[in-house]
Amino acid sequence: MRPLSRKATCNSHGQDSSYFLGWQEYEKRPYDAVRNPTGIIQMGLAENQLSFDLLESWLAANPDAASFKGNGESIFRELALFQDYHGLPAFKKALTEFMSEIRRNKVNFDPTNLVLTAGATSANETLIFCLAEEGEAFLLPTPYYPGFDRDLKWRTGAEIVPIECHSSNGFKITQAALDDAYEAAQKRNLRVKGVLITNPSNPLGTTLTREELNLLLNFVNAKDIHLISDEIYSGTVFNSPGFISVMEVVRDLKLENTDVWNQVHIVYSLSKDLGLPGFRVGAIYSNNDAVVSAATKMSSFGLISSQTQYLLSALLSDKNFTKNYIKENQRRLRRRQEMLVNGLRNVGIECLQSNAGLFCWVDMRHLMSSNTFEGEMELWKKILYDVRLNISAGGSCHCSEPGWFRVCFSNMTEDTLNLSMQRLKNFVNSMNSSSSQSHHQRMKNSRRRSLTKWVLRLSFSDREPEER
Ligand SMILES: Cc1ncc(COP(=O)(O)O)c(C=O)c1O
Repeated sequence: MRPLSRKATCNSHGQDSSYFLGWQEYEKRPYDAVRNPTGIIQMGLAENQLSFDLLESWLAANPDAASFKGNGESIFRELALFQDYHGLPAFKKALTEFMSEIRRNKVNFDPTNLVLTAGATSANETLIFCLAEEGEAFLLPTPYYPGFDRDLKWRTGAEIVPIECHSSNGFKITQAALDDAYEAAQKRNLRVKGVLITNPSNPLGTTLTREELNLLLNFVNAKDIHLISDEIYSGTVFNSPGFISVMEVVRDLKLENTDVWNQVHIVYSLSKDLGLPGFRVGAIYSNNDAVVSAATKMSSFGLISSQTQYLLSALLSDKNFTKNYIKENQRRLRRRQEMLVNGLRNVGIECLQSNAGLFCWVDMRHLMSSNTFEGEMELWKKILYDVRLNISAGGSCHCSEPGWFRVCFSNMTEDTLNLSMQRLKNFVNSMNSSSSQSHHQRMKNSRRRSLTKWVLRLSFSDREPEER
């Protein structure tokens, strides 16, 4: 008898990707300044730990919210029994207002169109489940978040077809790339149900331009398919150009009375902007009543606990707090990103210019022994085992060009980030000196060979053919 179902054992989960293997290696010997100073530094995890002090100060000043109290009275029993899959109305209101605030109030969200889910992971899977049959496809621009293989494909049976983006134009989405992906899906006999983008992008750390969003909306309109915009990093935009939500462009293009209005869906979560992945708070926002209704039923499989909703509705309703938090968190992210970019530049490594996210997209093509994905893996292993930094190889993000790596900067202290740059510097210096040594050695050898040839020619010119 088969011990497990086919679905449980099929490898579309992507667990064997180097992205997850790096995490496992980190878990075996994690860096700790005191207990394990030579351990692996985790730079492959997009966590935001930069603004915990702001959240902790708010909790200290508002003890009722975390201790099951409302207006001084215990609401323990009410919360213990609450299990409505529509969610706490106060929380949905607070979350939609927070989402609008992040978009500088250019878009308003109606809480009745919001479906709560246990994180963006659950939101993305739920949407694919609602929109695609097994064997139908979504097109995704590359490079993309490695977790999507698990989230979008594993349980739903849907397929991902890459929209190949390239470094030559800063990995921008083009009409040609969209058309090629659509054609590639057709060649594989896959019916395309939609496009899924992350804006800001994980792993690029960049926001989509208005031109790209226009292009995408025209494309989904022409093909009569869906557009899912995962905007989990929308609050992390720390530099210009500012963030433009797909909903803003839908409004600006006056698409409210067209089919597109019902075909655009947003995914959101508090895992990155508030740094709370452990709280499992996510959401789907859609103007499509059928999608909202189906997704609400599905959300029974991944609800947010009532005390989490209660606590966060109090936190997010405090407008002074949210205003200050968003600004200060972005300031801290900008500083960190600059530290990483400058640290890398000092050792001759450049990043794609970024303005958002918790990571940089780093160009290490010149450090590879060959311009191949084997060369990329070889470098990744050296950096993991010798330099002891866990960074994510571009191949695990389905990048079409080898040599790019995602490096996270907000899940550690400044001292740890400085140490990681020091380690990298030693590594690059040792590579440079060994390659200049081998260059020097090659030069010496070739000089010796010429000398030998010359001596040989002098002494054996009539007897031996010249060595080649
Ligand atoms: C683009 C993207 N979507 C979804 C997720 C999953 O987030 P959550 O913790 O809210 O499930 C992540 C996490 O890294 C992500 O980067």
